Amino acid sequence: MNFSDLPQPRPLPFSGHLQRWGSSPLSLIEEGAALGQLFGLQLGLRTVVGYSPAWNKRLLSDLTTFRSAGSFSAVVPYLSGGVILTDAPGHGPRRQTMNPGFGKKHLELLQARIVSALEQHNRQALSAPEFDALAWADGAVLAMLNAAYFSGEFPQELMHAFLAPLRQPFPTPAWPRPLLFARFDAELRRLAGRRLREGGDDLLSLLARLPGGVREARISLAAGHDTTTHTLAWATWFLAGHPEWQAPEHHRAVIKETLRLYPPGWMGSRRLAHDTEFGGVTLPKGALALYSPYLSGRDPLLWERAAEFWPLRWQAGFKPPAWAYLPFGGGERLCLGMHLANLMLETALGSLPPLSAVRGDPTPRPGVTLGPAGPLRVRARDEGPPTSRGGGCDIRTVEDIT
Ligand code: HEM
Repeated sequence: MNFSDLPQPRPLPFSGHLQRWGSSPLSLIEEGAALGQLFGLQLGLRTVVGYSPAWNKRLLSDLTTFRSAGSFSAVVPYLSGGVILTDAPGHGPRRQTMNPGFGKKHLELLQARIVSALEQHNRQALSAPEFDALAWADGAVLAMLNAAYFSGEFPQELMHAFLAPLRQPFPTPAWPRPLLFARFDAELRRLAGRRLREGGDDLLSLLARLPGGVREARISLAAGHDTTTHTLAWATWFLAGHPEWQAPEHHRAVIKETLRLYPPGWMGSRRLAHDTEFGGVTLPKGALALYSPYLSGRDPLLWERAAEFWPLRWQAGFKPPAWAYLPFGGGERLCLGMHLANLMLETALGSLPPLSAVRGDPTPRPGVTLGPAGPLRVRARDEGPPTSRGGGCDIRTVEDIT
């Protein structure tokens, strides 16, 4: 079969699927998914979308055919560069130099700093019983990333200003922002220089020693902020609506279930380096190839009670279907910050008082990452004197968490 014979949602006469991709991409890909496990889109470039485990495995394992250069990340200056756009054979060695900093052992060193930054944030952000979970999560993740990367030394407003455009709808995140990036990089370089002179053990200290490390710090921060913020906001909203899951021992299951239903990386993209074949279809060189953690995580053929928030599925011993649960991607390009994200998520959920949902708009809004429309107003339940969890943090070890 040829690429042009793939099923596809009905295109518009001139713009193909571009207009719907801009306005309502989730309904567009859901419509495509109903037509077949592999479907086509016209997005200016010939585009193939798949969500079967076999497709995910192929796209995420065959790194010489499915390349990051020329993918969606390349058009977003925040993500365009560093390890994210490095392809094989350079990618593996690059990751090896970065992995140790983001591994569990090193994160253990940073945990106390992360907890204390969160406590400081919570003192103000949780001072009133009612708050917006999205705004709280935003500040909490910013503070924890600042602690992990910079021991809290990066000016918080500059970090906030730098990251804010990333969460706007397209095309805003794709606009070049040379002045803002230059200000951000100047501060990064100043702090990196100090670490090279004086030593240190935060993430910047490790990245500063690598060629291009300052850039990697900027890019990985951008990759890590909204993804973690949105997961945290949604998980908080779910907890508020499902008090039976609020005990800390359930938080890991709640996070996993949140990431299944609302993976912030809802769509991953690659470009085909040469013609290739998949499932009897010839895919042409240069085509855009997409995998979707969103579609794979909701496929009723793979998941029991696929559309439901059902954390019980994650009880001990459960293994998700192979290559179907990909909130952190998979294969060699598995998310660099996965352990850090899990540490921040569990730490932050564990710092909340018992909650109930007040009102909110959790409608998923796809942009560079998938986030809730918000606000998500929640309220601390009046359950007698606050426990150590009300704004403070139970310290669990990284080993416990990830
Ligand atoms: C809940 C939070 C997060 C989610 C859902 C998430 C999701 C993902 C996904 C799906 C990918 C693979 C993309 C692809 O295949 O094209 C990825 C890669 C990546 N993530 Fe995350 N991420 C999260 C947090 C973080 C954090 C905290 C960092 C900070 C270090 C980070 C840094 C990266 C980097 C640098 C890559 C590129 C890895 C490579 O290409 O080798 N992420 N992430």
